[in-house]
Amino acid sequence: MIEIIGPLADPSAPGGDGEKPGSLQKQLIERLQQAILAGRLPAGSLLPSSRLLATEMGVSRNTVVIAYEHLAAVGYVLADRQGTRVSALSSPAARGERAAPAAASAVAYAERVGQFTATRTHADNTFPLTPGTPALDHFPLSAWRRALERSMERCLPLALGYGDPAGEPALREAIAAHLRMARGVRCDGSQVVITEGAQEALNLCVRLLTNPGDIAWVEDPGYRGAKAAFNQGDLKIRPVPVDPEGMAVPADAWRKHPPKLIYTSPAHQYPTGAVLSVARRLALIADARRHGAWLIEDDYDGEFRHTGEPIASMQGLVEDAPVLYVGSFSKTMFPALRIGFVVLPRGIATHTAVALQEMLRGGHRLEQLALAHFVASGEFGRHLGRMRRLYRERQQALREALTLQFAPADILGGDCGMHLTLRLPAQIDDRALVDRALEKGLNPRALSSFALEPRAHTNGLVIGYGNTAAERLAPAIGLLAGLVDKAHGKPTRKAASGARR
Ligand SMILES: Cc1ncc(COP(=O)(O)O)c(C=O)c1O
Repeated sequence: MIEIIGPLADPSAPGGDGEKPGSLQKQLIERLQQAILAGRLPAGSLLPSSRLLATEMGVSRNTVVIAYEHLAAVGYVLADRQGTRVSALSSPAARGERAAPAAASAVAYAERVGQFTATRTHADNTFPLTPGTPALDHFPLSAWRRALERSMERCLPLALGYGDPAGEPALREAIAAHLRMARGVRCDGSQVVITEGAQEALNLCVRLLTNPGDIAWVEDPGYRGAKAAFNQGDLKIRPVPVDPEGMAVPADAWRKHPPKLIYTSPAHQYPTGAVLSVARRLALIADARRHGAWLIEDDYDGEFRHTGEPIASMQGLVEDAPVLYVGSFSKTMFPALRIGFVVLPRGIATHTAVALQEMLRGGHRLEQLALAHFVASGEFGRHLGRMRRLYRERQQALREALTLQFAPADILGGDCGMHLTLRLPAQIDDRALVDRALEKGLNPRALSSFALEPRAHTNGLVIGYGNTAAERLAPAIGLLAGLVDKAHGKPTRKAASGARR
């Protein structure tokens, strides 16, 4: 036995780590437990009698009796008429199976984790040209503070409890009313589920509607958050190419890879800015109906249409469309609010009500109540109007700067949202370029980093203007142009000043 569990140490002598090894009884228990868990004492094997083991280990018989009793109490061993036997445990090693080598289990873990390929830190998101960050310095803080104070005055202490798992009814109603009017969404408050940003809404769609192994289509290039949600649900991701009319589903895709879930950003494809044509919207809806698939419509920045009429939602195009409309206040308010929502089709809302009660916990009630008031009182609409004007001006400034510096500039993106995409000559490594830009305090994204599949000529820069003042755009783009010249091997232009924050 001593070869299996090793000799016990003198309880009074400190070990190599300076720690005392513990009493003989404690050591004996630990050694036996380890040997059982590692399979060195396999299930069913008979342990030596207490007298024999005591002699072999040089301890009192009572020490062994107490150790066996302890092991029996926690289920490592069973005492029967023949003596003390090792129990059958669920640990593979203890079952006598060969343990997976440490490296192999690390690979299984790393494979899942390896699907996530973030390249930026949070701090970078405050730099100019970050796509998706709104103008935080233009947020109406005092109106927001008043709304928060109002909900504290009126709703405490009740609002300290969990609340409705689907979110505060007042906020769900306010969102539904706003979406009906501003985005043409067909819904009422009972279909709205409040989530922790759009990301939780995407995760929720996966949990409600799919099983592991189901196929999910994602725009390519496309939103990495959608890919992350689908990876978490162990879905098989099929990239669908994007052209100037948005998601372009290949003719045989429905037959070859019938999806359960389709992610699309029709109002302003992320990151190319394409608007999904009505013909394609109707075809997607009809095909999804025919095949029992669901569409996720991510309307992340559709509120910021700079010219003409807003492009209404796909969800509202036809009655009872198989569309889950996802929205977020990350762009329209501020990202740290972490409030988003999903509008469920009526049938799903009814069928999943009980599941949602179990899956969600409510919370963030004061913020939700303040937001409900902010929306219902018209403050939100006024803020959106101001931001639309601001972003229109910033987009114009960015277009002008790009046209000047990169003529003939290949600019993708409609008159919507908070970013434009500049395509670059195929030989330019856009990821290396954004690394150089980051060193200069600018944070555009590499277009190629949104690609799911390697395709020819997907390199470029996704350039945010939401968080960058119009007058700083020209110098920042001048700096980028200098970096592009360098990458081309051309002589550097006169570096423009003032790009740094
Ligand atoms: C395409 C897209 N959808 C949704 C979101 C919003 O995500 P969240 O509400 O989780 O902040 C973003 C933010 O960057 C986005 O780019």
